[in-house]
Amino acid sequence: MGFCFGCSGWSGTIRAGLSIRMQTLVILCGFLSLLFSARADVVERFEDVPDCMKYFYKEKVPEWGAHTPGAVHLCQRFVNRYHFATLYDTNHRIAVYAAYQFEPSNGGGREKRWFVEPQLVNMTWQAEMKDGYWLGKDYPGIYQGEKQALNEDYTHSGFDRGHLNPNGHHAVPSRNATFTLTNVVPQNPKLNQNAWRIHESQLTDLFREKCSKAFVLVGAIPSADNWIIKNNVKRVNIPDYLWNAYCCVDNNDRPIQSGAAAARNTEDNWVERLALEELGEFLQQFSNQPVGELFYNNCRA
Ligand SMILES: *[C@@H]1O[C@H](CO)[C@@H](O)[C@H](O)[C@H]1NC(C)=O
Ligand SMILES: *[C@@H]1O[C@H](CO)[C@@H](O)[C@H](O)[C@H]1NC(C)=O
Repeated sequence: MGFCFGCSGWSGTIRAGLSIRMQTLVILCGFLSLLFSARADVVERFEDVPDCMKYFYKEKVPEWGAHTPGAVHLCQRFVNRYHFATLYDTNHRIAVYAAYQFEPSNGGGREKRWFVEPQLVNMTWQAEMKDGYWLGKDYPGIYQGEKQALNEDYTHSGFDRGHLNPNGHHAVPSRNATFTLTNVVPQNPKLNQNAWRIHESQLTDLFREKCSKAFVLVGAIPSADNWIIKNNVKRVNIPDYLWNAYCCVDNNDRPIQSGAAAARNTEDNWVERLALEELGEFLQQFSNQPVGELFYNNCRA
C-alpha cells in the first residue's frame, strides 16, 4: 500500500510527454507492491495475496468475523513460505478463525518454541513468525504484547495453549508453524486433551480415508468478560466456545462431505457435532451481521 501511494505521487508529477518513463514507474510500482504484499505477514486483505488464498476452498474467504473490531489478516509465514491464514482479533488477543488445508502428518516431534508475529509489534519488522525470546534480543526493550498474546500470558494461567489449527493436521514445517501464539487460545485443559483432541483425530481419519483435499476453519467465540489477567491487566480473552468446520473434496475439487462442531470451553469436555448449516445458526447468535457462507457454495456439490 505504502509503495502505491508513493508511486501515484511520483507519476502525478511527471509531465505527459514522458510517458515511457511513467510506464516504467507504473511497472516498478506494481512490482514493488507485489513484492511487498507477497512478503508481508500482516496483510490488508487475504484477497490481495494469491499465495494466501489457497487455504480457502475455491479461494472464498468465509463470510464470518470480517467486522470484528481490531481484526487483522495474517498470512502465517514460516521458513520462507505461507502455511495457513488467520483472522486475528488484536483486542481480545485470540483468533477469530484460522483457515488451513489438511495435510497428513509425517510424524516429528513437537515444536519447542512459541512464535509471535513481529509485524504486530511493528509493521516494518520481519515478515515471518519468530520466537519471542529471540525477537526480544533483536529489539531489546520493546514490549511485544500490545496487539498479541505472549507466551508468558499463558504461564500458570490454568489454561492450555489450545491450537486452533492443530499441529496434528500437518507435516513439518507447517506443523511447526502452528506453534504461533496467534494460533492458540486459552483452552480448558480437559477439553483440549480429551474431547477436542479426539475430535481432531477423528477428522484426521476421515480426511485421510475419504478426501483428496480438506479445507478447514477453526474459530473461537470470545467471552463477554473472562480473561487471563496478568498484573491487573486483561491480557487474553478466554473464549466461551471453540468451533470448526470442514469441506472435504475430491481430486476435481468437487465437494464430497462437509461438517462442523462446537464445544463449550469448559470442564464439560463435550464436542457437539453439527451440520454446516447448524454451525451457521450457532454462529448467528454471536453476530449482528448475517452469517454468510463459510465455504464456497456452502460446500455443496
Ligand atoms: C520443526 O520442529 C521439529 C521438532 O521440534 C524440529 O526438529 C525441526 O527442526 C523444526 N523445523 C524447522 C524448520 O524449524
Ligand atoms: C518501527 O521500527 C522502525 C525501525 O526499527 C522504527 O524506526 C520505528 O520508529 C518503529 N515504529 C514504531 C511505531 O515503533
